Amino acid sequence: MEKQLEALKQSFCEELERVHKPDDLEPMRVKYLGRKGALTSILRQMGSLSAEERPRMGALSNELKTYMEEAIACKADDLKKASSTTGIDVTLPGRSPRKGGIHIINQVISELEEIFLGLGFTVASGPEVEDDYHNFQALNIPEHHPARDMQDTFYFQQGILLRTHTSPVQIRVMEKSGLPVRIIAPGKVYRCDSDVSHTPMFHQIEGLWVEEGITFAHLKGVLYEFIHRLFGKDVPLRFRPSFFPFTEPSAEVDIGCIICKGKGCRVCKNSGWLEILGSGMVDPEVYKYVNIDPEKVTGFAFGLGIERIAMLKYGIDDIRLFFENDLRFLGQFA
Ligand code: FA5
Ligand code: MG
Repeated sequence: MEKQLEALKQSFCEELERVHKPDDLEPMRVKYLGRKGALTSILRQMGSLSAEERPRMGALSNELKTYMEEAIACKADDLKKASSTTGIDVTLPGRSPRKGGIHIINQVISELEEIFLGLGFTVASGPEVEDDYHNFQALNIPEHHPARDMQDTFYFQQGILLRTHTSPVQIRVMEKSGLPVRIIAPGKVYRCDSDVSHTPMFHQIEGLWVEEGITFAHLKGVLYEFIHRLFGKDVPLRFRPSFFPFTEPSAEVDIGCIICKGKGCRVCKNSGWLEILGSGMVDPEVYKYVNIDPEKVTGFAFGLGIERIAMLKYGIDDIRLFFENDLRFLGQFA
């Protein structure tokens, strides 16, 4: 009987080895361990054993029974793991990949670039980590000048900072390219500032046109044309005298608040107007820093807040929505 048990174990092992489908395990269990299975039929011979042999054979067959049960359970486990790591269940419904989109701010930047390219401008760029010289000094904002307080600055070590506006690109472009200059420069800028219409990082587009015979009329012409192309001819628009150390005279441009239709809301701080850009004629002092003779040329510059444009264009009443990365918001513009 001992030999029979050994032979049974042998054939069980060989057969189990050949099983590759979970469905084949149950018939095997029935064949070896079932009520009419191989083990049971061996156990039927117990009666013919001597009283001394019986307990030992009982123990041996119990051991074999446990062994076979565990081996089958183990195999079932292995087959399950193998099918979940290497198998693909083609009957499951497919998962469609989520479609990405261009961020609304980048879409607006492209649209603005298109308009200015159409007006004969080319696109320039400069670093976001700037030095004090380009961000302030060469723009006629010396140290301790009160105008530095107009823009709360993030500083690294002495003299290095996150640019507070795109105006340093004016200096970088005039330093290295000859005249005439007619560029725009879109990019990120940083200020310690945060509420419904201000974020610590936002985007500006700088514009600069320097050439013989450029006047304030050119500035107005370009900005009117730009705003009309962007918002249509009916949008309320005003030039408001202002001050920048690097332009003289200077003006800021406001657009009638589209959110409240000029009635007054939290975005326009109840004024009915939203400031979108600063501008002016390049101050002769600035030309001295870039070796341009102010007697020979004149020019104008402007710096435009891109989020403000996007808010007005799409009726968005909180600038922070652009940067919270809520897909329900961003998906509307994809
Ligand atoms: C400037 O930054 C000047 N460099 C603009 C300029 C360029 C003037 C060239 C003259 C010649 P100002 O700080 O006003 O100016 O910012 C320009 C525009 O950026 C504002 O009109 C507004 O639309 C936007 N802006 C300013 N601060 C924020 C902010 N924290 N969040 C979002 N938009 C802002
Ligand atoms: Mg301003």
